[in-house]
Amino acid sequence: MTKPTPAKVSMEKIVSLCRRRGFIFPSSEIYGGLSSCWDYGPLGVELKRNIKQAWWQAVVQGRDDIVGLDSSILMHPQVWEASGHLEGFADPLAECKSCHQRWRTDELEGDSCPACGGELTEPRMFNLMFKTFMGPIEDEASVVYLRPETAQGIFVNFSNVLDTTRKKLPIGIAQIGKSFRNEITTGNFIFRSREFEQMELEFFVKPGTDEDWFNYWLEERRNWYIKLGIKKENLRLRQHMKHELAHYALDCYDIEYQFPMGWAELEGIANRADFDLSQQAKYSGKSLAYYDEDTKEQIVPYVIEPSAGIDRTFLALLCDAYDEELDKDEIRMLLHLHPKLAPIKIAILPLSRRENLAQAARELYADLRQCWAVSYDDAQSIGRRYRRQDEIGTPFCVTVDFESLEDKQVTIRERDTMNQIRVPIKELKTTLAAKLSGEDLFVLPPGGKIWKVERE
Ligand code: GAP
Repeated sequence: MTKPTPAKVSMEKIVSLCRRRGFIFPSSEIYGGLSSCWDYGPLGVELKRNIKQAWWQAVVQGRDDIVGLDSSILMHPQVWEASGHLEGFADPLAECKSCHQRWRTDELEGDSCPACGGELTEPRMFNLMFKTFMGPIEDEASVVYLRPETAQGIFVNFSNVLDTTRKKLPIGIAQIGKSFRNEITTGNFIFRSREFEQMELEFFVKPGTDEDWFNYWLEERRNWYIKLGIKKENLRLRQHMKHELAHYALDCYDIEYQFPMGWAELEGIANRADFDLSQQAKYSGKSLAYYDEDTKEQIVPYVIEPSAGIDRTFLALLCDAYDEELDKDEIRMLLHLHPKLAPIKIAILPLSRRENLAQAARELYADLRQCWAVSYDDAQSIGRRYRRQDEIGTPFCVTVDFESLEDKQVTIRERDTMNQIRVPIKELKTTLAAKLSGEDLFVLPPGGKIWKVERE
């Protein structure tokens, strides 16, 4: 019998895994789906929360120069006039005269329809802002927009935050939240959708220090992805060329990831100078200046903006973690997710459903659940159960067997190596906490022993 061959990651494999295991479903699926909108299922929502928590920890909690914010999605329409979105947040759109598909002409290679080769209409600028109405009357005066970025919520709150926190420059304000863009072309699964989530930081600095802070954030942000396990060789920084730069940006880099469909933007890091604060101050008539106690002058801070997409980070993490390997005569599929990100940290697997064993396993399950996202699985063979956990990236499985009832010990099996140790139940929680924080599996607690070494 020929052995199966492990395959490389592809978008089809990721989409299929996400659907099959409940990471992501098409929005409104029972109605045939809604184009480019996605629902995160039980495992997806855990992974997404863990990504946000990792970002919040790195950007807000772990620092004393950044605070958080959660501003509303609907904002005063003048915000978007001031930011330039109403006038300039548009892409060139052309329609095929034969098949009537619509295309973003700045992303086309040639000048004919990529679907049927037909002739395209002259491009017109199409604004990407979603419009709706505030209140019961649908007229021009009641038009409001779903925000296309979370950033403006930060700029308009700059003075509120400064006054209430009494912080000095440099100070960052960070926000995580939904944004909406009526994209002309969507696709590549969750890579480009019309409703998505952003993690944005606006880091306000004294003019003149902006270049140093810009370089600092380029490094910090790239390292964040690496620390979460993304392979260095799949990340690169790409500087925007002059013609790509927004008119207000002094400099901008994209952190790009090598997705199965090619290199594409994960996060943008821009030096936006004083554009946003100056514009919002001009349109609102309220000062957004900062009193510099050193120079005794009012200044408008410059801002460095690292702006990341959660959905793209999610996709990059899955693509990077995806692995297939030959295990005996079968393909073992696994996700090498960082324990911090894994949707389920620990699976409790009783070797049998017999009552006394099940009871001991359920007690452990109830106890560990107070600390971590834990799952319980007693269906089918232990091998199959391990595979199910490997496939969703669960770092540790705890197996409760008949001996456990006698010796009050259980085995812990590690996902990547499949190595196992046996530890006293009373040491289980502290041992798992240490392993989840990165301690080597074979560092044993009192009374623990190496149980099985799969690969040496
Ligand atoms: N405030 C700056 C800003 O919004 P951006 O480059 O337009 O900058 C930042 O967006 C990040 O938001 C992108 O790097 C990407 O990760 C994410 N993003 C933007 N549009 C998206 C879309 N249609 N679908 C999914 N993510 C998107």
